[in-house]
Amino acid sequence: MEVLNNKTAARRWVMHQRCEQRSLGLVPTMGALHAGHISLAKRAVQRCDVTVATIFVNPTQFAPGEDLDRYPRTLENDLRLLRDAGVDAVFVPAVDEMYAEDFSTYVQPPDVALCLEGERRPDHFRGVTTVVTKLFHILPCTHAFFGHKDYQQARVLQTMNRELDFGIEIEICPTVREPDGLALSSRNRYLSDDERRRALGLHRALTVACKAYQDGQRGTKVLEQLMRAELENAGIDSVEYAVVVNSQTLQPSVHADEEAIALIAARVGSTRLIDNQKLAT
Ligand code: PAJ
Repeated sequence: MEVLNNKTAARRWVMHQRCEQRSLGLVPTMGALHAGHISLAKRAVQRCDVTVATIFVNPTQFAPGEDLDRYPRTLENDLRLLRDAGVDAVFVPAVDEMYAEDFSTYVQPPDVALCLEGERRPDHFRGVTTVVTKLFHILPCTHAFFGHKDYQQARVLQTMNRELDFGIEIEICPTVREPDGLALSSRNRYLSDDERRRALGLHRALTVACKAYQDGQRGTKVLEQLMRAELENAGIDSVEYAVVVNSQTLQPSVHADEEAIALIAARVGSTRLIDNQKLAT
């Protein structure tokens, strides 16, 4: 597996693959890799001739006071996991390789970024669309792989890809969970044992909403109340949102239909967790 640290070498490597007419899968990550990330890498390896992963803790998507400085960095282990997954190359730039000191060009995210995460983390998606655009340019790929776990992010990037004509095929891969249902997240390692138990409330609340939907409940307000009750029951410290919205637009509607998705953001201790589930599954 090639480990590429600078943009020129990375671009040259990718252009060589593209000149050979190979399909090229891109798997962007911030490292601290777990089985969720690796499932994206394995899917890319399966679907594309060659696969490039990226590891970059992107400062522009963190607000002051968020966990940029303490975000886990486990490079050696990450490289081993990617190599074992069959990834061909990994791009690991330093911050100054991606952002010059006087950097000032940003990609304005689409409207689907305005609600939910976008309301609570104002510049977050601008950082994501900017860094992913840079990665798409540095590593011109045919396919890119993102996780359902960060559902709004995936919708934002799909919309950007379409509206800015990147022409990349984007695949959204299923959320990988612990055996008890907790969605894998690099931030789970911040949780104490007690918090880890309470964190399961997010998955439980989503399961309750899915069950109620399958039993015929279509009122979004009722479904949202059921989720809040379950979150409270599980001892979640604070709920930022627990909503049922349209999975394309992320806008609310009175009645849930087969396009409905439930999304939750909540804090357990000081750790912020997100999870989601389509109701008609
Ligand atoms: P990161 O949080 O490292 O996630 C990288 C990719 O892994 C994202 O597409 C995310 O949705 C996916 N992922 C995370 N947990 C998952 C799980 N349990 N199951 C399946 N996929 C999972 O998301 C980012 O990094 C950044 O915002 C990035 C897109 C790299 C831009 O900086």
